[in-house]
Amino acid sequence: MKARLKAPPAGALEPIEVASRDELAALQLKRLKWSVRHTYDNVEHYRTKCQAKGVHPEDLKSLEDLRHFPFTTKDDLRLNYPFGMFAVPMEKVVRVHASSGTTGLPTVVGYTRNDIDMWAGCVARALRNAGACTSHKVQVAYGYGLFTGGLGAHYGAEQLGCTVIPMSGGQTEKQVQLIRDFQPDIIMVTPSYMLVLLDALEAAGIDPLECSLKLGVFGAEPWTESMRAEIERRGGIDAIDIYGLSEVLGPGVACECIETKDGPHIYEDHFYPEIVNPETGEPVADGEMGELVFTSLTKEALPIIRYRTRDLSRLLPGTARSFRRMGKITGRSDDMLIIRGVNLFPSQVEELILKNGSLAPHYLLEVNRQGHLDDLTVKVELRPDVILDDRDKSAVATDLKHHIKSYIGVSTKVSIVEPDSLPRSLGKAKRVIDNRPKA
Ligand code: DLL
Repeated sequence: MKARLKAPPAGALEPIEVASRDELAALQLKRLKWSVRHTYDNVEHYRTKCQAKGVHPEDLKSLEDLRHFPFTTKDDLRLNYPFGMFAVPMEKVVRVHASSGTTGLPTVVGYTRNDIDMWAGCVARALRNAGACTSHKVQVAYGYGLFTGGLGAHYGAEQLGCTVIPMSGGQTEKQVQLIRDFQPDIIMVTPSYMLVLLDALEAAGIDPLECSLKLGVFGAEPWTESMRAEIERRGGIDAIDIYGLSEVLGPGVACECIETKDGPHIYEDHFYPEIVNPETGEPVADGEMGELVFTSLTKEALPIIRYRTRDLSRLLPGTARSFRRMGKITGRSDDMLIIRGVNLFPSQVEELILKNGSLAPHYLLEVNRQGHLDDLTVKVELRPDVILDDRDKSAVATDLKHHIKSYIGVSTKVSIVEPDSLPRSLGKAKRVIDNRPKA
């Protein structure tokens, strides 16, 4: 049995993490006023949007007043590509990152030195809350480069005082070699790539349950509670959810605490969250599902007001910390498939796949159009240790089909494929191939 990592002692927490909601709200309002004013004064595009809507920073008297301000979207960043949304002169910008996105121009984000320190502070806080401490070695297997995962994790782990192994994504055999030889305690990687690493460890004759890893800090893509259970069982580690997005920061906007593992606590001293109805843009009450919207409270280079993340979640009260939590992201509104009128997220299918002991968490949803009708095929791998004849395979497929129909309401084809036959991701997994003609 591996030793489990512990929650940080109360004395190691920052006072704001355990402050009263009133104290937090007072800090948020002060910072929000600064952030809205800073954006208005220095980002022409946002100022023009405010003027068109008839709002001015002086109108912001309470946190609730934020709802009157215009949203910011990915399109705003694209329209101002590459640096038009920056609020400070270029000589103050010490780093840029960019997110490729699946369509169109990348969105470019910038950081001042203070922004980088704040970001590293958020990731250090996240790691501490996940159970990390200075004596730990952290293998960073998020990609380094324009993607925020690698460098974001790196600076945070360093700031906490851990020993960083800056492996980056990919080179699976090398990852395994480093896990074997450098003995990291912690790995930071996408959950889908962690599955690849678990397979690779086993293939190299290393029992993951015996390896040095005790903790995984996983994010950058949606993953379900069943996936958490799978990774924890196979890896003998605690699996913690870290959330972030480049337009708002990168990793470290929110992270779970090891003592509760009940959804990421949002670092509300730096990011003000709202949930809005994705269709109307109207804010909804805490606890209700909708689209996450973030306003940065302290960022200098790219302050962002009411950024529409497209991520679907809900706000929940704080537990281990005073900050509110976000429910596990069920998907992005732009990942949602509409199959013959029924909304479906890949994560819903993942839950059902993992309920079946014969199926591995490697799957792909393929959508085609047959005449006027959408046709969804779920391709899913058998677990490598499961041998089934054709009749048993077809029974497993029928079972999954039945569950998808009864829980989600969509008729699908299910194709059970051989272990290791679907493409593996080295970073964010691609779960959907949509071959339908674009409207
Ligand atoms: O993925 C930042 C990040 C890196 C977060 C490493 C965590 C760990 P982007 O490439 O801009 O930034 O993608 C952001 O990824 O809007 C979500 O849709 C998704 N995402 C990120 N974290 C989670 C998570 C990074 N924990 C987009 N759960 C976001 C579900 C996540 N989805």
